Amino acid sequence: MTSSTVLYPGSFDPVHLGHIDVIEQAAELFGAVTIGVMHNPSKPSGLFAIDERVAMLEASVSEIDGVSVRAFTGLAIDAAKDCGARFMVKGLRNAGDFEIEQQMAHTNYSVAAVRTVYVACRPDRVFVSSRFIREIAQYGGDVSHLVPAAVASELARIAKATS
Ligand code: PNS
Repeated sequence: MTSSTVLYPGSFDPVHLGHIDVIEQAAELFGAVTIGVMHNPSKPSGLFAIDERVAMLEASVSEIDGVSVRAFTGLAIDAAKDCGARFMVKGLRNAGDFEIEQQMAHTNYSVAAVRTVYVACRPDRVFVSSRFIREIAQYGGDVSHLVPAAVASELARIAKATS
């Protein structure tokens, strides 16, 4: 295997502990990981702006060696090319993730020869999703055990401002 970085693309709105597990596994496998904060066209209504997502990610991965965070616009295959990644990494929580990710992986390879590597998410975190974190936090629920400290404090700040 080459020593190039692997791209971990996602919307990370916000990053949660399931993502951190994937980042840790990717860093162990590849040595260098570029986290690509991207727009997901099927998720138009976000909670955090892209620069806020990047800042929370940077704070959350600062102690994992070899990890950097960048925002990208456009296609994940172009982001991979831009950061010199031949591979992308994705975490699989369940069969639903597999269905979506397999189609994207085949498409990305077909269009740009960028390969996708899957890692199995930690069993104690397979239920965690950014969507439900956003929903629960927006109604004042406590999700601090599911997210890094930097995200928990941002969610608490929003909750305080809107209460
Ligand atoms: O965390 P998400 O929302 O599941 O991440 C999805 C993401 C951002 C990786 C995906 O929507 C994506 O790759 N977006 C960039 C646009 C793109 O490359 N589209 C073609 C997919 S085959």
